[in-house]
Amino acid sequence: MSRPPEIHVLENETSLANEVADFLAWTVEETLRRHAQFRLVLSGGSTPRSLYRTLVRPEWSQRIAWPRIRFFFGDERCVSPTHAESNYATAKACLFDPLGIPDTQVARIHGEEPPEDAAQRYETAIRQDFTIDPTTVPQFDLVLLGLGDDGHTASLFPGTAALEEHTRLVVAGSSPTGVPQRVTMTYPLLNRARVVLFLVAGTKKAAMVRRVLDEDIRRPTLPAARIHLTEGRLLWYLDEAAAAALTVRRRSVPHHEE
Ligand code: 6PG
Repeated sequence: MSRPPEIHVLENETSLANEVADFLAWTVEETLRRHAQFRLVLSGGSTPRSLYRTLVRPEWSQRIAWPRIRFFFGDERCVSPTHAESNYATAKACLFDPLGIPDTQVARIHGEEPPEDAAQRYETAIRQDFTIDPTTVPQFDLVLLGLGDDGHTASLFPGTAALEEHTRLVVAGSSPTGVPQRVTMTYPLLNRARVVLFLVAGTKKAAMVRRVLDEDIRRPTLPAARIHLTEGRLLWYLDEAAAAALTVRRRSVPHHEE
């Protein structure tokens, strides 16, 4: 049975980004004591930009062992890697380029290819990176996720076939808004992670945050509520605006207390 989510609420988007940067730095340090590298999955959309801006500041850029981190994406829009809507383009401009992270450390989803081809190619790339037997689900060290105001996360949108994928790790998906064609990691892969961290900010998300966190995880209906880890830690990092409608008890224990 998965553990309940740990909910951290910070005053504003700046303090939220700093707290998540601190958690990331701590988790990387702890993991690299035992493993050669750290595999991080980035979320899409606009919320991560404030985290990226924080991570490239010397306080964090000089603390984190970037050369030992491999970067992946939880989903991608089916556009070119230079398109303004590309999650890779956002990460490249705001994180990879400022930190001098080479392409060899980044496994991007080839959104410019036909979606199904891109999905199969990405699943193969993930499996090759982990060099594990084909029946084992790879375990990422940390997965960042966002929350859409319809309850989607990654590109797992309500009512889409991707929600019902229980075998493949990556599939083609569809979105009712924005770029319609997507490629997304699936629940088998996301729920296997050591840590999943939802980073959510802003008033617009408050109603959906409450619905997701108040939902009965035994009968979840919203895509984001169906993220519950087989053995890892599920954390929600929110600013006060996004947490404003919450009724569940907020745990404000320091992040290093597992
Ligand atoms: C995407 C994301 C998606 C995103 C949420 C929140 O590609 O759009 O992966 O799941 O995290 O839609 O997006 P914002 O941060 O822009 O609100």
